[in-house]
Amino acid sequence: MKSLRKGIGNRKEVESYYDNWSGSYDKTLYQWDYKAPLQSVNILRKYIKTKPKFILDLACGTGLFINKFLRAYPDCICDGSDISRKLLDISKRNGKYRYLYKKSFENKIKISNKYNVVSLIGAMTYCNNYQLLFKQVSYYLSKNGYFIFTHRLDLWRELKFDNILEKLTDFESINISRPLNYLPKNKDFGSDIKIKIVLLKKK
Ligand SMILES: C[S@@+](CC[C@H](N)C(=O)[O-])C[C@H]1O[C@@H](n2cnc3c(N)ncnc32)[C@H](O)[C@@H]1O
Repeated sequence: MKSLRKGIGNRKEVESYYDNWSGSYDKTLYQWDYKAPLQSVNILRKYIKTKPKFILDLACGTGLFINKFLRAYPDCICDGSDISRKLLDISKRNGKYRYLYKKSFENKIKISNKYNVVSLIGAMTYCNNYQLLFKQVSYYLSKNGYFIFTHRLDLWRELKFDNILEKLTDFESINISRPLNYLPKNKDFGSDIKIKIVLLKKK
């Protein structure tokens, strides 16, 4: 345990893992060639025809995804949530988010408006209850809103994630990407661990 690849532990342990990492998080992810934020934005640009007005970025970390997202959609109002106080502090200093919530993505946030897009990039690994997560996301989204997330292919297979997606009644599947390298310059991940990027639309 206690490894990004094999698992960090329970939610408290994940929280302190990311708190402890916060000082060098952005630099390390850059060194590991973490491209999921940009790749996810490219998928949104390809499939979303109307510019989103509101996005909720779950497990937002330091805002690596939202930085790329705002380049494509500079007028969008962005809210974020995460369990790591220290990563949230960095996001706060960067000033890209309107509201930041210290919350697990499995717990409901009291929102002030519905969102056109909800994102969960690089964090589905930490989900303990998919049903609950999809229920919360459906509640946050406006009709025809989009949920974009990444998920590791090894866990996808292990957890039979196709079956979970098939059972979703609130969403239709818009696109599931081909397998992509996740952290190619991290020696534990290399080209072994791939992700898919999934875009769902709320019915
Ligand atoms: C690999 S980082 C991805 C961060 C950001 N989305 C990005 O693309 O840079 C994983 C993030 O998930 C957060 N996280 C882990 N478990 C969580 C949970 N249950 N609820 C909310 N955030 C969580 C961590 O604190 C960390 O910020």
